[in-house]
Amino acid sequence: MIETIQWTDSGVVMIDQTRLPREETYVTCTDYKQVAEAIRSMVIRGAPAIGVAAAMGIALGMQQAESAAEFDEICDTLARTRPTAVNLFWAIERMRRLYSELQARPIEEIRAKLVSEAQQIRLEDIAINECIGRNGAPLIPDGKSVLTHCNAGALATAGYGTALGVIRAAVASGKKIDVFADETRPFLQGARLTVWELQHDNIPATLITDNMAGHFLHSGRIGCVVVGADRIAANGDVANKIGTYSVAVLAKENSVPFYVAAPISTLDLSLTNGDQIPIEQRAAEEVTHVQGVPVAPDGTTVENPAFDVTPNRYVTAIVTERGVARPPYVESLRKLVT
Ligand code: MRU
Repeated sequence: MIETIQWTDSGVVMIDQTRLPREETYVTCTDYKQVAEAIRSMVIRGAPAIGVAAAMGIALGMQQAESAAEFDEICDTLARTRPTAVNLFWAIERMRRLYSELQARPIEEIRAKLVSEAQQIRLEDIAINECIGRNGAPLIPDGKSVLTHCNAGALATAGYGTALGVIRAAVASGKKIDVFADETRPFLQGARLTVWELQHDNIPATLITDNMAGHFLHSGRIGCVVVGADRIAANGDVANKIGTYSVAVLAKENSVPFYVAAPISTLDLSLTNGDQIPIEQRAAEEVTHVQGVPVAPDGTTVENPAFDVTPNRYVTAIVTERGVARPPYVESLRKLVT
């Protein structure tokens, strides 16, 4: 099993996703600022995984805090790391709620309970993903290829994955499928992480560059698309890795179902539509360089939004641990949370 993140006696241990697939190395964060930096620099990434990391960062920070007054600063530092995935804020809020219930208790008890809450969030995430997998597997056509974008696998979660969880569950149920993985420029999560993960589980994977997706969606070989999500608005608009929107439009054009797999913690029903989702802008070097090597002239002007929003009309269904939501999403998503 791939261990994305773990709480240990020496600190929060994460597989270093910036080094995969060349090296399988692990980073140990020994204070909360290191956890925040690991999220920002994408040593750990993926919406549910950064939620777990933030919860563990808070627990770690409070082990070392000299006074309870440091709690807010620890939470705020972790909240400033990445703006789009709502799971980060969901996890911080859950830790804040627990802390406010415990505030009058002795500091040793508060520390212990924050650690067990963070560990609980990690374990729940794995169980939720297995459930998303069970709910989504029946949607996957047998004997066809499945296209995915970015990495919504074990590495993007505490384990098993959301989109890749659906694929894992479909394979476990006996379906003969293989995966087309978009390379996912500029950070190459598809090439570096999704293909690595699928090879690890012996699930056949074919790597394509992002601009090949339309060609293969038109070819009749792709039975469906399954992706993860970073934030889903009340109307079913989905923020996910940049390039997801293009894949969704191409899927609809070619009558290929486009499924989003995500936990309930990825829903942000406080937002009426996807235009309100904050989109992270990342460094120009991610676009001008590939793995540290320049591919554009010095001084090139760059835009680097890390996510885009797929309007709900392109989304065939949203698979969660509580069931499968279909349009109209304003009603079906609300029903899942009540
Ligand atoms: O920038 P990243 O790598 O954190 O982006 C990850 C994605 O966009 C994933 O598809 C999303 O977080 C879902 S992960 C289960």
